[in-house]
Amino acid sequence: MKRSVLVMTSGLLLASVGITFAAGHISTDDRVKKSRQTAKQFMQSLKGELQTAMKAGGPVNALDVCNTKARLISQQHSDASGWRVARTSLKTRNPANAPDAWERSVLEKFDARKKAGEAPKAMEHYEVMEQDGKKVFRWMKAIPTQEVCLKCHGGDTVAPAVEAKLKKLYPTDQARGYAVGDIRGAFTITQPVN
Ligand code: HEC
Repeated sequence: MKRSVLVMTSGLLLASVGITFAAGHISTDDRVKKSRQTAKQFMQSLKGELQTAMKAGGPVNALDVCNTKARLISQQHSDASGWRVARTSLKTRNPANAPDAWERSVLEKFDARKKAGEAPKAMEHYEVMEQDGKKVFRWMKAIPTQEVCLKCHGGDTVAPAVEAKLKKLYPTDQARGYAVGDIRGAFTITQPVN
């Protein structure tokens, strides 16, 4: 029951994202706005599922959501938009989320900006550039670490049962030892430009 409601909600969200792509020429401003919108919806879907699973069975249970749903949600957003919509980090849990060279350089710049005193919450960066011989718009937005993230991305805050399951699912996990306010990673979106 709960599941079908969730599917319906994300279906509606995706339908509304889909409509915005019908236009011909899209300005860079519009691309930025739509990227922000998409990342926000991605975050909301994931957070909703995470909170429900946490309430139902704590972080061990919620691990399954991040393990199976996070990439599914990013795939749904990619399919609906025709873009590449994903999450990445300098220290990944899932190596499939590893950054490419451009993403790595942006993530490093985000860390440098934070060191220089800027708050991560509104950090974003975008460029129109060439990729594999095609013009693309690429956009990234920093994802700050919040208190709730520490149950799975912190140090001592990670419970032994969570730790054990993480070891099993992600033997090369690097996404540990974060503190509130650290940049955990970033949303990354690539849009084709015609
Ligand atoms: C219940 C455990 C859990 C919680 C809580 C959690 N995460 Fe994660 N996180 C994971 C798992 C598992 C993955 C790997 C997902 C995958 O396989 O793609 C992950 C992956 C990520 C990634 C993708 C990059 C990577 O490391 O592979 C980002 C970014 C991320 N988490 C941010 C956050 C943020 C921000 C919060 C808090 C708002 C958070 N996570 C809370 C378990 C969790």
